[in-house]
Amino acid sequence: MRTLRPFRPPAVAASEITDEAVYRDRRRLLAALAASPVLGALSGCAEAEPPPPPRTPVSTADARAGFRTGEPLTRYEDVTSYNNFYEFGTGKDDPSKAAKTLRTSPWTVAVDGECARPGRIGLEDLVRGLAPQERIYRLRCVEGWSMVIPWQGVPLGEVLRRFEPTAKAKYVAFTTLADPQQMPGVRYRSIDWPYREGLRIDEAMHPLTLLATGLYGKPLPQQNGAPLRLVVPWKYGFKSIKSIVAIRFAEKMPATAWNALQPSEYGFFSNVNPDVDHPRWSQKTERRIAGQASKLFAERIPTRPFNGYAEQVASMYAGMDLRKWF
Ligand code: MTE
Repeated sequence: MRTLRPFRPPAVAASEITDEAVYRDRRRLLAALAASPVLGALSGCAEAEPPPPPRTPVSTADARAGFRTGEPLTRYEDVTSYNNFYEFGTGKDDPSKAAKTLRTSPWTVAVDGECARPGRIGLEDLVRGLAPQERIYRLRCVEGWSMVIPWQGVPLGEVLRRFEPTAKAKYVAFTTLADPQQMPGVRYRSIDWPYREGLRIDEAMHPLTLLATGLYGKPLPQQNGAPLRLVVPWKYGFKSIKSIVAIRFAEKMPATAWNALQPSEYGFFSNVNPDVDHPRWSQKTERRIAGQASKLFAERIPTRPFNGYAEQVASMYAGMDLRKWF
């Protein structure tokens, strides 16, 4: 069996971490549930499709309040040196050291699946004519830290509409480049490469979902996912896939990298939710990367449902059991 190397647990107080014996028991219980054909269907989300999204999409006017937070920004130095980008290693400082080898120009993205105008398109053409927008978003990592980052980019929905998705396009799947020549981490099977992520179509079309090409007014550094990455601010950071080379419109829920590795720990939706703990740690609180030379992390603060974007996004999940569809 392949060795699983999930995220390294965050440095949280021992009292917040589930006792190991309890955790092991829980994992045994989950394994037993999954092995049972009847109970397995109830325990996970792989077996069934979630309820369809609401018919009325969220309007840009309704989403606008979420475009900028007035909270203090995380320092540029920290945003660009404390990263998760496993293609360049699993340490937080690996990407900033190793990612310089990623060639980001020319860059093409292959778009296919359930759409009328599939094709391979250069980055410049992909975003041509769309005015870059600035968004100041909180990014909450599943590990328990968070940042506030000024991004530049274009709404993903505006890009996707250019390919004319068909009525069968219920999901959108994204793939990162996986080139061992340029990405040393890909030589190790920490993840089943390429890194893959997915969104339900309404989430992809939501005005808050950004296809980012820059941060702090500069082109995106390689370690942050150059030349283009997703930013989905109400979901855990791992949904914000970096260095995208393929986009596919799909009828069925696509496989995603972390869910494939550990389905009991990383669900498809992965909406930030303080009421649904990760099996190995609490998600109730988080620590901002503080940007103080003497101290990387600030004091713990409560994590908010949907990372504080409930007003803009909660309607998309009305009637859904968010413990089941975590
Ligand atoms: N995308 C790829 N291709 N590979 C990764 O390892 N890590 C994810 C996400 N996107 C990751 C990725 C995780 S866990 C987080 S928290 C964010 O990127 C981190 O983004 P940042 O380094 O720009 O803060």
